[in-house]
Amino acid sequence: MTYGTIFITGAASGIGRALAIALAAPGCRLYLADSQQTGLNVTGSACEELGAETHLTCLDVTDEPAMTAWCAQAPSETVDLLLVCAGITGGVAAVQEDGAAFESLDQIRRIMAVNLDGALNAILPMIERMRAQPLRKTGYFRQQRGQICAIASVAGLVSYPGTPSYSASKSALDRFLVASGAYTRRAGIHLSSVCCSFVATPMVAQNRFPMPGLTSIESAVARILRGLARRKRRIIFPSWLVLGSRFMDILPIRLAELYYTRQPTGRPGSMPPLPQKHRSADRSSQ
Ligand SMILES: NC(=O)c1ccc[n+]([C@@H]2O[C@H](COP(=O)([O-])OP(=O)(O)OC[C@H]3O[C@@H](n4cnc5c(N)ncnc54)[C@H](OP(=O)(O)O)[C@@H]3O)[C@@H](O)[C@H]2O)c1
Repeated sequence: MTYGTIFITGAASGIGRALAIALAAPGCRLYLADSQQTGLNVTGSACEELGAETHLTCLDVTDEPAMTAWCAQAPSETVDLLLVCAGITGGVAAVQEDGAAFESLDQIRRIMAVNLDGALNAILPMIERMRAQPLRKTGYFRQQRGQICAIASVAGLVSYPGTPSYSASKSALDRFLVASGAYTRRAGIHLSSVCCSFVATPMVAQNRFPMPGLTSIESAVARILRGLARRKRRIIFPSWLVLGSRFMDILPIRLAELYYTRQPTGRPGSMPPLPQKHRSADRSSQ
């Protein structure tokens, strides 16, 4: 499967960077965005060494006008693929005196803003752009205008007590893509949601507990690209964990909670909170 023009958010690190490098080839044009200029430069250089043309944009995905302008770059080119990889995570804080454990309001709002609104800030303008593109033949019986894929999470398939706003943001993103894809597909625009477990990237590097289903970045990229070649609406791995999560979701809530709150990832204070650099006070001083 070859793609000519590709847009990627979250391209300065982890899954976004690895996908950019895996897709980089002579004749390929990569439009890479992230909030980290230094990381973007590293990804850009690696892709150019592989023969790709790169265009780097440092932005915050929650900045809607900036995202609309980013999606409108190179208007004469046909966009083959949008990969939405920018995302953040954070867990609930340690238990307080009364037994409750919470995420801060700042953390909840920021996770929703980046993981959901930030993703939509790329997906919606790109659907409109792709609608105006010509249908191209991609197989004997298949033609399409473009593909859009966002990295959701297996956390979006369950009500996970350790990361409530992360679970909620990824659930909304996954449901939006899977549901919208039913009709965009008829117009030749294929949507995919990636529901994966832990992937060994900088996002999880500081986790100090066993991560169920931990996948190498190479394996994750191979699975995502294989799923995209098959136009899968939902790309899931590892399947045993996703099946387990689906089972947990049909159990009575109290029973599922009993299990989750005993898991290392479900205990208050075990998943790191949102990094300081993503908190609002810190961002406004940048
Ligand atoms: N790794 C996993 O285990 C895992 C599992 C399931 C799903 N996912 C999802 O996969 C996606 C990629 O994660 P990853 O593991 O590759 O994480 P990563 O290595 O932290 O990469 C994410 C990139 O997105 C950037 N970013 C964050 N907020 C942004 C914003 N507001 N505007 C622009 N860029 C922003 C990050 O910058 P900073 O470095 O400044 O944060 C980082 O460069 C995320 O959506 C994540 O939720 C990851």
